[in-house]
Amino acid sequence: MSVLHRTGARVLDPRLDPAYHIPIISDGIHEETMKDLVLKLLPEIKEINDPTLQEKVTACWQEAIEFRGWTEALLLNIPFTLLAENVQIMFIDHVRAVCRMCIAVDKTLDQYHSRKKTTVNRDHLVAGALLADVGKLLEFEIVDGKPVKSDYGKHIRHPFSGVGLAFKHGLPSEVMHIIATHSKEGAGEKRTPESIIFHHADFIDFELVK
Ligand SMILES: [Fe+2]
Repeated sequence: MSVLHRTGARVLDPRLDPAYHIPIISDGIHEETMKDLVLKLLPEIKEINDPTLQEKVTACWQEAIEFRGWTEALLLNIPFTLLAENVQIMFIDHVRAVCRMCIAVDKTLDQYHSRKKTTVNRDHLVAGALLADVGKLLEFEIVDGKPVKSDYGKHIRHPFSGVGLAFKHGLPSEVMHIIATHSKEGAGEKRTPESIIFHHADFIDFELVK
């Protein structure tokens, strides 16, 4: 049985074992396929101007998908939150919609405030928007055919696992800040302009379904 799918009561997640550091996929062809899948699911990655930052964002998603062996079909069909009943908005659509909202907000502020606008780093904003929820692929698992919060997710919510992935792949601290502060964990923190934009866009999607 894969790590993603399990039935019945508690099963220890082998990837919580500190000995688990063996890459699941190592051949070049599969690596390329995984990268293509990430870019297909999230074409907004191309909205990032810096190619190195694009690569790092893609690498985080690739590792998060591989962690539990998520499939394209599952990624497109799990709800974006487990904190509300009967959520019809799917995970990938939420990530993409909120990312697009962030870009639209930034463009609108450019258009109307121009020189008076608070400076926003668009690349950091887009990268943070795309990575804020990547940790949900570690937080969620499928039990008896349904997405649920895993034991791992009960210990480490997605802002923490997201920062862990981002740190591993060398994302700048400005992007990790957006991941770290986007949700309730960031309440009371002084958010950067990019994190403020993301937080509000994210909560539009969340509050409309909860
Ligand atoms: Fe989130």
